Amino acid sequence: MFAGTVLSVKPLADGFAELCFDRPNEAINKFDKTTLDELQAAVESLAGDASVKGLVVTSAKDGFIVGADITEFGAMFSAPKEELVKHIEAVNFNIFNALEDLPFPTAAAINGIALGGGLEVCLACDFRVMADNAKIGLPETKLGIFPGFGGATRLPRLIGVDNAVDWIATGADKKAPKALADGAVDSVVSGEQLKAAAVDILIKAVAGEFDWQAKRAVKKGPLLLNDMESLMSFETCKAFVGQAAGKHYPAPVQAIVCMQEAAKMERDEALKVEAKHFAEMAQTEVARQLINLFLADQVLVKTAKGVAKGAEPVKQAAVLGAGIMGGGIAYQSAYTGTPIIMKDIAQAGIDLGIKEATKILSKLESRGKINATKMAGVLNTIHPTLDYNQFGEVDMVVEAVVENPKVKHAVLTEVESKLSGDAILASNTSTISIDLLAEPLKRPESFLGMHFFNPVHRMPLVEIIRGAKTSDAAVAKTVNYALAMGKKPVVVRDCAGFLVNRVLFPYFAAFTQLLHQGADFTFVDKVMEKFGWPMGPAYLMDVVGMDTGHHAAAVVAEAFPDRMKHDFEDAVTAMYKAERFGQKNGKGFYQYVPNKKGRVEKTLDPDATSLLAPICAAPKEFAAQEIEQRLMVAFCLEAVRCLEEGIAATPTDVDMAMIYGLGFPPFRGGPLRYIETLGVAQFVEIADKYAEHGGLFKVTDKLRTMAANGETFY
Ligand SMILES: NC(=O)c1ccc[n+]([C@@H]2O[C@H](COP(=O)([O-])OP(=O)(O)OC[C@H]3O[C@@H](n4cnc5c(N)ncnc54)[C@H](O)[C@@H]3O)[C@@H](O)[C@H]2O)c1
Repeated sequence: MFAGTVLSVKPLADGFAELCFDRPNEAINKFDKTTLDELQAAVESLAGDASVKGLVVTSAKDGFIVGADITEFGAMFSAPKEELVKHIEAVNFNIFNALEDLPFPTAAAINGIALGGGLEVCLACDFRVMADNAKIGLPETKLGIFPGFGGATRLPRLIGVDNAVDWIATGADKKAPKALADGAVDSVVSGEQLKAAAVDILIKAVAGEFDWQAKRAVKKGPLLLNDMESLMSFETCKAFVGQAAGKHYPAPVQAIVCMQEAAKMERDEALKVEAKHFAEMAQTEVARQLINLFLADQVLVKTAKGVAKGAEPVKQAAVLGAGIMGGGIAYQSAYTGTPIIMKDIAQAGIDLGIKEATKILSKLESRGKINATKMAGVLNTIHPTLDYNQFGEVDMVVEAVVENPKVKHAVLTEVESKLSGDAILASNTSTISIDLLAEPLKRPESFLGMHFFNPVHRMPLVEIIRGAKTSDAAVAKTVNYALAMGKKPVVVRDCAGFLVNRVLFPYFAAFTQLLHQGADFTFVDKVMEKFGWPMGPAYLMDVVGMDTGHHAAAVVAEAFPDRMKHDFEDAVTAMYKAERFGQKNGKGFYQYVPNKKGRVEKTLDPDATSLLAPICAAPKEFAAQEIEQRLMVAFCLEAVRCLEEGIAATPTDVDMAMIYGLGFPPFRGGPLRYIETLGVAQFVEIADKYAEHGGLFKVTDKLRTMAANGETFY
């Protein structure tokens, strides 16, 4: 009936037809331009075919449709706004409305996942039957946009405003029971019965048992809310969603604004409102950055898979040291399916490690994410031990003992002697040079850094640090292990602080320099949180721990004295000396005291202020802009140096490592993207303004040339 390259329409028995998405040579279906064109042609041919009684929409893949082809967004969204609005309207009217208006009932048979445009095509059908293991959702707000192929119009009409706001604003996938309970699908069946169940609904619709025209009319009419209900519903949602999303992410609230504006409208008018608001969001800087980020993530994972290609998966891992990091690594390895031995020198350490893993698992269980069997299974694959007896069978060891080169040398040489010839040995050191740690080892080619971030189960990044003698095979196997653990590995070269801490500590140095000159740390925190950081530098240092921070700053200063050494006692050193270690002992820049409910709260502590007074200039008001610029210039310039020196291989590696390792504001795209957004020349000009404050603000020659030549990183 219709044969395209990515979809076809074929007759079924008794006058029914099947429109099947089946993209050639790929494991998934997606909505790209070809799909839209072919869908339009297919629907046109169906509309003119008087023999068809009903249409079932299916996928020949394991999943229905994963969503839009995001690689097409950049070009599409950069068109002039009116053009973009027209394009979206044309897609909606000529394709999705045409499908919805077919002169016979339609049913989508949803298998696997149907996200974004994939779900929107189902919403344009009269009925939706979902496989019990399928997931559906509208994740667009995660990209700074919202559903623009009719999703923001049809979903609230189908499942009510409150539910639609939840689906669209969070962007979360919904499993079959939730989708059924909210009314987004009409029935849930097993995967094997899916198509038959969809056809069965059509048979009943044609026979008049289901009033498909009435169902269709609900989606095409205005929202069924009176003025008061509408006002209450939308205003409450806007306040709630606005607070959850934060002011840097406007799309979730804009989706609600759009639904509200179109509430009293019929479908066609409502879709015009949707297209207008959609185009507005699509052309924000936030959307541009979040889309870049999505694509950069794909590049990152693809690169990592390329590096890991051919490496044997790790069968039995081990971690040395059952502390904060060792416990986290053991949990993550076991949870993702690689059994792990957890060795410590003290039973107390082991108890702590197991307690930590149990705590994370219990939380998951109480939230219904895992069951007791999975929890027991994970704990059973962590083997706590105080000896090396089983190390002969281990093929990957991560050392996570205290951050001390002497201790690490002793531990690494000892464990190396217990391992089989081809086992890989990695250190989770956060600062000590991999080449230095490799010195006493017999097989330095099998040694490298594997730097996890705290808390291990939450932080996506793992820095894989290649020493001068590390072999490709060792890198491949370690990257493979990181991927198997569900992490985002970035391979970097050895240097003080590696990539992430090397870039972070100049930012801290710019911070303590400001304090030394009289800035108020609470104000600095406010400014940087407003910029988009999850926490300001003082708070972050409290979380990292003053002892760790002080030590790491010293390591980085030793390597890069031109910008990191200073001739005054800085605030972090003062805090460290006063044993104000931060959150870990309840006091640092702030104090951390349990409130009445037992929750630890961050509050101001006059002792911290009096501690800093003698080592800082008299309190001075700095403009928010100066604070932001000084901290960000120091941070971004170090990121530039890391790229120029080849510590990281690509701008994407640098930017993604900062987002995944430090929580760099995602909507700003990473430090190099941030420089580009400002304009390289403009950034250099800003940096030069602060040249008098030392090496932290010294622009590299190469960056200056880039600025002069109008070059960019990407
Ligand atoms: N804590 C962080 O935020 C963080 C982040 C990234 C990397 N790191 C790095 O991870 C490593 C461990 O840090 P941590 O915070 O987990 O420390 P920790 O003090 O919590 O744990 C260290 C553990 O190592 C054990 N240990 C000491 N000597 C040992 C030996 N010879 N054999 C086996 N176990 C031994 C100790 O008993 C203790 O349980 C350090 O190199 C640190 O720099 C820490």
